[in-house]
Amino acid sequence: MDVILIAAVTQDGFISRHAHETVRWSKDLRLFKEQTLGWPVIMGSHTFRCLTKELTGRDVCIVHRSDDPKKILSKYNTEKCFVIGGGKTNARFSPHLTHLYLTPHPIVFGSGIRLFSEPTEEMKLKLEKTVAVEKSEGIFQYQYRINRDIGHTG
Ligand SMILES: NC(=O)c1ccc[n+]([C@@H]2O[C@H](COP(=O)([O-])OP(=O)(O)OC[C@H]3O[C@@H](n4cnc5c(N)ncnc54)[C@H](OP(=O)(O)O)[C@@H]3O)[C@@H](O)[C@H]2O)c1
Repeated sequence: MDVILIAAVTQDGFISRHAHETVRWSKDLRLFKEQTLGWPVIMGSHTFRCLTKELTGRDVCIVHRSDDPKKILSKYNTEKCFVIGGGKTNARFSPHLTHLYLTPHPIVFGSGIRLFSEPTEEMKLKLEKTVAVEKSEGIFQYQYRINRDIGHTG
């Protein structure tokens, strides 16, 4: 199963200013809906609290600290599922991710919630596709496959 992390990020690698921010600056909500519709979506409890609308048409799983990511993923028998944040949840699911769908936005926060709130393993990314979000503003979604066989040459 493809386990896809999907996120809007700032140019300095943040996904929000603080844990309670509802993300209103993202330009890729339409693409997010199109890509996740019909698939399981996994999110942390903080992100769930920040939602202004229900994510209809998707099997939504809200993760708490006592949950085991491996067990959660094992209950899905689908071609793919999406990990949709926030930073804590992204970090907890990071060992299981197969893809990153990232949309860098032309904004810098300086501080906030990182894409991965905790240290993760190094990942080598292979670009598979780019999708235009707002071409005139230079906003594209980059779809990467994660390659974990990294030769450490120093
Ligand atoms: N830009 C984007 O694409 C994007 C996407 C998604 C979210 N966001 C933003 O990201 C922010 C939320 O991110 P987040 O990282 O704070 O939260 P999160 O990952 O959504 O939720 C927090 C998770 O961490 C757990 N947790 C909390 N405290 C913990 C602790 N001390 N030890 C272990 N686990 C703990 C929570 O479990 P419990 O339920 O048990 O507390 C929950 O599973 C929001 O502002 C949201 O809008 C942005």
